[in-house]
Amino acid sequence: MSSILKLEVKSASVSGSFDCDVLAVFQNQTGKSKKAIAPRGHYASIVEQFSKGGAFAGAHGSVSYLRFNGKATAESVLLVGMGAAEELTLEKARIAAGHAWAKLKSEKDKTLRIDLDTLLSAKGLNHELSHFAWVSAFAEGLLLGAYEFTKHKTGKKDSSGPIRIVFVTSEKSLAQQLAKELPRLEAMVEALRVTRDWSNEPSNVGIPEYFANEARKFARQYGLKCKVLNEKDAAREKMGLFLGVGEGAEREGRIVVLEYTPKAAPKRNLKTIALVGKGVTFDSGGISIKPSARMEEMKHDMTGAATVMGAMLLAAKYQVPNRLIAVMAFTENMPDGRAIQPGNVLVSRAGKTVEVVNTDAEGRLILADVLDYVQDMKPDAIIDVATLTGAVGIALGKFCCGIFGNDEALIDAIRRAGAAHGERIWELPAYDDYFEDLKSDTADMRNSGYEGGGGASRGAVFLKQFIRKGNAWAHMDIAATAAGLSYLPYYPKKGASGCYVRALARFAAEF
Ligand code: BES
Ligand code: MN
Ligand code: ZN
Repeated sequence: MSSILKLEVKSASVSGSFDCDVLAVFQNQTGKSKKAIAPRGHYASIVEQFSKGGAFAGAHGSVSYLRFNGKATAESVLLVGMGAAEELTLEKARIAAGHAWAKLKSEKDKTLRIDLDTLLSAKGLNHELSHFAWVSAFAEGLLLGAYEFTKHKTGKKDSSGPIRIVFVTSEKSLAQQLAKELPRLEAMVEALRVTRDWSNEPSNVGIPEYFANEARKFARQYGLKCKVLNEKDAAREKMGLFLGVGEGAEREGRIVVLEYTPKAAPKRNLKTIALVGKGVTFDSGGISIKPSARMEEMKHDMTGAATVMGAMLLAAKYQVPNRLIAVMAFTENMPDGRAIQPGNVLVSRAGKTVEVVNTDAEGRLILADVLDYVQDMKPDAIIDVATLTGAVGIALGKFCCGIFGNDEALIDAIRRAGAAHGERIWELPAYDDYFEDLKSDTADMRNSGYEGGGGASRGAVFLKQFIRKGNAWAHMDIAATAAGLSYLPYYPKKGASGCYVRALARFAAEF
């Protein structure tokens, strides 16, 4: 979204002058007959007239834009169909909002007012959820839908869609709560913007050094500690796998370590959560080179790191009551005269040797070293996030990411945190049996198997070899969900989704 998007709250009923370019009103249907319920409020007659012939039935996900050209008090009215109120969920509210914004993008309105009363007065709305929760979900969908990546487009830079959003409600207490919480919403949008921008950045700009500099800048802004390791430092740390992957690249790798400690004195013992991100700025496959079709999508291969970055920023803004360490490992996977070759043996930081039978299975190599590194800091939980395998998309499609690990309570907690935002996470196994196919004749293990099935689990079990005894660990394979989540209207049709930033920040708050 545009960083100039302004959010406001007004405690009033929408009446008299609308004072906006477009007014959004919600329209519901009755539960059984799925007929539009007659709209209320004094724009009712206009809306009713319009929808009489069934032109707008209020079905969930539908929107209708009425242009009055000065004949009514608002220039235009956007009807937002919510479907039957009884069937409305928070995720459906996000989706309706995503559709609403998609419509507004093609119009010229700069000020949008949202008549929240028309949503909250709907009969049959689940009142176990607070009015605030409903509005938050709608706002979340709206704001996430407003993102555009225009950095590399010349000419018009104005983002499309309104730049001022006013939430109007006659409920005083809701208005107060909203006004208080708007900064949190803005923080969420900002964190997702960073994650999406990083992920979308072409890899000639988004090189390891670029992300290290960006991270330093954000760390200063958000009050995080920041340390950057270059390849010399990585060599001192004996990170043979991380360095091996970067051998074929001209551009030097970087490992960024961020640390967050809450400002307020802790009410209990602080727990330490380690977030580890795969940051392959471009994955050509190396000597095991990828086919050229859609290879450009491999600029997104650093989205694990981008997700960790966004989660750190959001958690810091929220001042979550835990200590966080983020380790983001940036490098390029390129073929070159010095590049590692299939069959090469590398020594990991942990001391274990790895036969690289496929240079395209590089993510697990760099993660193994930084997972070992972060365990020296004695975290209570470790979560790595990575675009690790195409296989996870074969198993699950794009409708959720895969999670693996050695601690069910940890996995459950992450899944719950995701569910609160409609971010779906599905557990896949990390049985030790998957290691069978990773046994090597020459080294302690090889980085890829020869079997067709279970590739995502095999990737996870490779990482598991580097988790020390007793440490709680979860691995999120976001290869299929990092980009191109066109099935939800609040994600961009193409490019980075920003998925799981909210899940991780919420987990950090609740753990
Ligand atoms: N970065 C890829 C995984 C990926 C694939 C991400 C498709 C996004 C979309 C990863 O480094 C990779 O190449 N994995 C290999 C592993 C295999 C060689 C064991 C794969 O999935 O083919
Ligand atoms: Mn690869
Ligand atoms: Zn990769």
